[in-house]
Amino acid sequence: MRQAGRYLPEYRRVRERAEDFLRFCYTPDLAVEVTLQPWRRYGMDGVILFSDILVVPDALGQAVRFAEGQGPVLEPVRSVGDISRLSLDRLCGHLAPVFETIRRLSREISGDAALIGFAGAPWTLAVYMVEGHGGTDCGRARTWAYNAPVEFQGLIDLLVDATTTYLIEQVKNGVEVVQIFDSWAGVLGESQFRQWVIAPTTEIVGRFRAACPGVPVIGFPRGAGVLYKDYVEQTGVDGVSVDSTVPVQWAREALQGICTVQGNLDNQALVAGGQALDRETARILGTLAGGPFIFNLGHGILPETPPEHVARLAELVRGWAGR
Ligand code: CP3
Repeated sequence: MRQAGRYLPEYRRVRERAEDFLRFCYTPDLAVEVTLQPWRRYGMDGVILFSDILVVPDALGQAVRFAEGQGPVLEPVRSVGDISRLSLDRLCGHLAPVFETIRRLSREISGDAALIGFAGAPWTLAVYMVEGHGGTDCGRARTWAYNAPVEFQGLIDLLVDATTTYLIEQVKNGVEVVQIFDSWAGVLGESQFRQWVIAPTTEIVGRFRAACPGVPVIGFPRGAGVLYKDYVEQTGVDGVSVDSTVPVQWAREALQGICTVQGNLDNQALVAGGQALDRETARILGTLAGGPFIFNLGHGILPETPPEHVARLAELVRGWAGR
């Protein structure tokens, strides 16, 4: 998940060589290297492409930059005029370096681990595009969606097209699984969740599946609560990533019968390490490892995480024998 590399000294060394974060994402030599770093250390079964969800707004023509210590900053999209200046035409050309990264990774990994591609879901991308930065309550995006649903739908439709095209192109270049990150899904009330999270994701999954049959799709509507179940049933995702607030017993009963569950160690337990880490890991594995399951964190790894705690976690998961 995002920020993944920052806890590793070898990531920070490569990061220093890049002018800025987006340039880093568009430099295959560097992106291949940092994608492989955690795999070399820990030998996970899945390797996630190093890139960012915000390369899509960038490729659509919105000004995006990552300010040091501040996270992403975007020139906000707040009117129909702003939407009309975005264009799908240069999407794949602009993202060509990402596809080059994927081709090289697929050669390097060659079947020894699953290469995971990803994109942001339309709602989460729209939040960044409209708000102009993260860390908000998404008030502007939500208000726009209430006051002018047809205008807002125009932005979402553009993002459905962009995301679908982008994911299909990633598969053509070698990714074997895709994940759709809807990090801001949890701020929405029920009807807005259905309209802006479930509906666009259903459209993406349907079109993706038609183009790439057999390629698994994992959805991550972070904070969806009890709506995780409707999300899975209606979007048709093959797997769902659950955040750390989801009770594992509930995930087992409500979700594991209909899809693969991924999750959901509290990233702070990984920072803490020791008995807390051992106990939480065993609790999750004890409940979920008997069904279709991908062990993961409930959200991105924190930069202050000691690398040796990750090594311990990998050992615990790999050594798990269904106790
Ligand atoms: O884990 C990985 O390294 C895989 C690649 C990846 C990144 N971002 C790299 C990254 C993935 C899958 C993402 C997804 C992403 N990006 C999401 C969805 C998942 C989530 O975390 O909710 C979101 C919302 C973003 C947008 C984004 N990118 C933010 C808000 C930030 C700033 C984070 C902060 O706290 O400063 C980023 C930067 C980013 N993306 C980093 C990395 C490795 C850190 C960049 C650095 O400083 O080196």
